[in-house]
Amino acid sequence: MWDELGFRDNPYSPKPIHANEEGSELLVGRDSELRKLMTYIRASDTHPTLEGPNGVGKTSLVSVAGFRLLREFEEGKPGAYIPLSAPFQLTSEDTLQSFKQRVLYAVAQQFISRSSLLKEKGYSVPNDDEIDQWLNSPLFHLTGGGGSLAGFGGNATRSTAPNSSSGFSESGFVSTVKRWLDECFPSRAAGGFICVIDNLELLETSRGARELLEAIRDELLNISGLRWILCGARGIVRSSASSPRLQGVLAEPIEMKPIDDASAEQALLKRIEVYSIGNSNPPVEAEGFAHVYRIGNRNLRNALKYCEDFSMWAHLEGGLTENSQDKLKLIEAWMAETADKYERDTSGVGNRAWRVFDDLVAQGGAASPSEYEQFGYETQQAMRPQLKLLEDANLIESAVDESDKRRRTIVVTSRGWIVNYKRSGFEIS
Ligand SMILES: Nc1ncnc2c1ncn2[C@@H]1O[C@H](COP(=O)(O)OP(=O)(O)OP(=O)(O)O)[C@@H](O)[C@H]1O
Ligand SMILES: [Mg+2]
Repeated sequence: MWDELGFRDNPYSPKPIHANEEGSELLVGRDSELRKLMTYIRASDTHPTLEGPNGVGKTSLVSVAGFRLLREFEEGKPGAYIPLSAPFQLTSEDTLQSFKQRVLYAVAQQFISRSSLLKEKGYSVPNDDEIDQWLNSPLFHLTGGGGSLAGFGGNATRSTAPNSSSGFSESGFVSTVKRWLDECFPSRAAGGFICVIDNLELLETSRGARELLEAIRDELLNISGLRWILCGARGIVRSSASSPRLQGVLAEPIEMKPIDDASAEQALLKRIEVYSIGNSNPPVEAEGFAHVYRIGNRNLRNALKYCEDFSMWAHLEGGLTENSQDKLKLIEAWMAETADKYERDTSGVGNRAWRVFDDLVAQGGAASPSEYEQFGYETQQAMRPQLKLLEDANLIESAVDESDKRRRTIVVTSRGWIVNYKRSGFEIS
């Protein structure tokens, strides 16, 4: 379908921007965050952290920052900052052991694929024999999968004894990679591999996140040759970074706000330009995109997703012309109809729940469960049933984090924003 519209790929893809030249070009409106992140990685003794709502662009920013740092090194700037091939995600299933292995396995792989670059720049890299030995050892393959064992967060026990036979060789693997790191990166300024923990909110509670981070502090956050970036949503990064044991290890979070409407338009134009082959006919142009972006409370990922859905629909229905005004009218009508449809699905939501919803929207779409008084309730418990109804209708997501009651864990979903569009008489703030 995209080729019929004159594109080599989907210009509305909601996937994160890739760590390559094209991705670097697609990232729009993040100059100051990018500069800040790259400066932190290069110059700070603490590890940078990013805090921002889902879909705002955290993973994309981190990818591009890593790509640019690597390119600068290739071009001769001092400091070998080399991103690992993919970010890590952690769940409460992970243990220190399993996570450490996953990380060091990824580091070993990257050592291998970047060894000629490092060597060329005069860095000390493991010799080929030693690498071969590890590559061919069954253990290397065994530990690569990152088998996870119960452990972090909650009440689960943390220490899981590695089974005795592999225990020795595992520690052999760990100490070998650590030695490689020590030798290659004798000082911070020499650089390091960029390791990302993405979506820290998957750990659900800040206690879970804090425990995990404290546990990896000495063995992963404080070892030479690794630069960490931590990303999360809904206050989990801010909350876990404030632990006394992590102060001096993690930097103050870089707050990521949505890019402004003009930048969102630019971001779309850039995609159209980069993906076009010859004369293209984008179903959604800049103005239509800004419309969808505003309805969805400026969530880039959701806006792209709606544009993708619309494009499919318009293409299959055959309703697309090449006239910009007609296309704008069409996406506006489609969004209004989508809002109508979503709103019809909310029959289980009563007046009291709607009041909570409207109040939540009025305060920006996020709240902490401890702010019940602002919603006219006397206890958190009393507000709970209304939240449940809104949750069942997929209008909000809501969780309670007992370890940090200030976290704004009640948030309006993308569907919720669309329904709000209908409820406010199709007006956009
Ligand atoms: N600065 C930007 N310019 C253009 N497109 C962007 C920018 N930032 C993000 N995007 C696009 O927006 C979408 C969401 O970005 P991304 O996945 O990086 O967000 P996120 O904050 O990591 O989300 P989540 O919290 O859900 O992981 C992606 O499709 C990405 O390509
Ligand atoms: Mg992400």
